Formats: sequence, C-alpha cells, structure tokens
Amino acid sequence: MLIQVSIFVLCSVAVLEGVVSAELDPRAADLTAFRKQSLDRHNHYRKLHGCPPLVLNDTLSAYAQEWAQEISLMPKPKHRPAPKYGENLSYASSSKAGYAENGEKSVDRWYKEISKYTFGEEPTKSGTGHFTQVIWKSSKQLGVGTVAKDGKVWVVANYDPRGNFKGKYRENVPPLL
Ligand SMILES: *[C@@H]1O[C@H](CO)[C@@H](O)[C@H](O)[C@H]1NC(C)=O
Ligand SMILES: *[C@@H]1O[C@H](CO)[C@@H](O)[C@H](O)[C@H]1NC(C)=O
Repeated sequence: MLIQVSIFVLCSVAVLEGVVSAELDPRAADLTAFRKQSLDRHNHYRKLHGCPPLVLNDTLSAYAQEWAQEISLMPKPKHRPAPKYGENLSYASSSKAGYAENGEKSVDRWYKEISKYTFGEEPTKSGTGHFTQVIWKSSKQLGVGTVAKDGKVWVVANYDPRGNFKGKYRENVPPLL
C-alpha cells in the first residue's frame, strides 16, 4: 500500500514538473482525494436510481492501484485475468503532457452509457457494462486506483460484490427515480 502510494506520488510529481500548474487539476495529484471524488460521483449517480451508496474499502483500493500500475506499463490496458471483484477500467490520453483528471471524470464516462441502456430487461447489446456496474444495486464496496503520467490517465475501479450478473439486471439496474 505504502509503496503503491509513493509510486503514484512520484508519477504525479513528474507530471507537475513539466507543466504550467494552471493546466492541472491539482486534486488529481492526491490519491486520497481522487478516491473520494470517485466514490462521491458513484454515489451521486446511484442515488438518482434509488441505489444505496458504496463505501471505500482500502483492500479493494490497494487491489485497484496494483492493477492501475500494471496497465500503465502495457501498450493497451486490459482487465485483470480473473479479477476477484467487479472491475471497470478507464484510459484517457492527451497530447498535453500534464493532462490530469479528477476522480469524477472516469465515472462520468462510464455512466454515459446509460443512453444505450434499456431498463426493465436483460441487456441484449454490449457497451453498457460500465454503467450497469456503477449503479448495480447490490454492490456495496468500492476500490479505486489511478496512475497519471505523460499525459495519460489510467483508472481502475473494483466492486464487491461484483455486478453484471445475468438474470439480475432488472432488480439491480433500476431506472431514474
Ligand atoms: C474490505 O474488503 C475486503 C475484501 O473483500 C474484506 O475482506 C473486508 O472485510 C472489507 N473491509 C471492510 C471494512 O468492510
Ligand atoms: C465493468 O464492470 C463489470 C463488473 O465487473 C464488468 O462486467 C464489465 O465488463 C465492466 N465493463 C467494462 C466494459 O469493462
């Protein structure tokens, strides 16, 4: 945990050095704040659907951080092979070397898939799996990991219990209140 945090901090410092600070969201440099922003954004959206709030879990966040660091070294981010928890990924890249994101951005991106989702039935198309996991009613705990470097931002969110179970969508993905 400690090692993971300091690696993140090192990356952030590297980003900060080369860039005019006004271009940066200073909040992105703070892993604790990033996690809280992600949690709050999840819970903001969950509330709109009458789903109970998630809580942050350090074990899950360490797990998420570990994978965020792994995928930041890969040419293309991919899911953990057989993750223990539900897992959403986000990867953003900018030509601006100092590009940074706060913890809300990736959740907003995932939630946008709502426009492709049909409530009240099992999904028949792909492309809404991030959205359904964000609001999945019976998920309770959240872990968040992120790495930012060279204008790129990776975010991993882990959910326990995991969402997106076949046959369970109607009860776990309720429409907007
Ligand atoms: C956090 O998650 C881990 C792994 O699922 C679990 O064992 C632990 O009880 C959780 N911690 C809390 C405070 O709920
Ligand atoms: C988001 O998380 C859920 C739950 O683990 C998973 O089923 C889904 O594939 C993820 N979505 C994407 C597109 O990665």
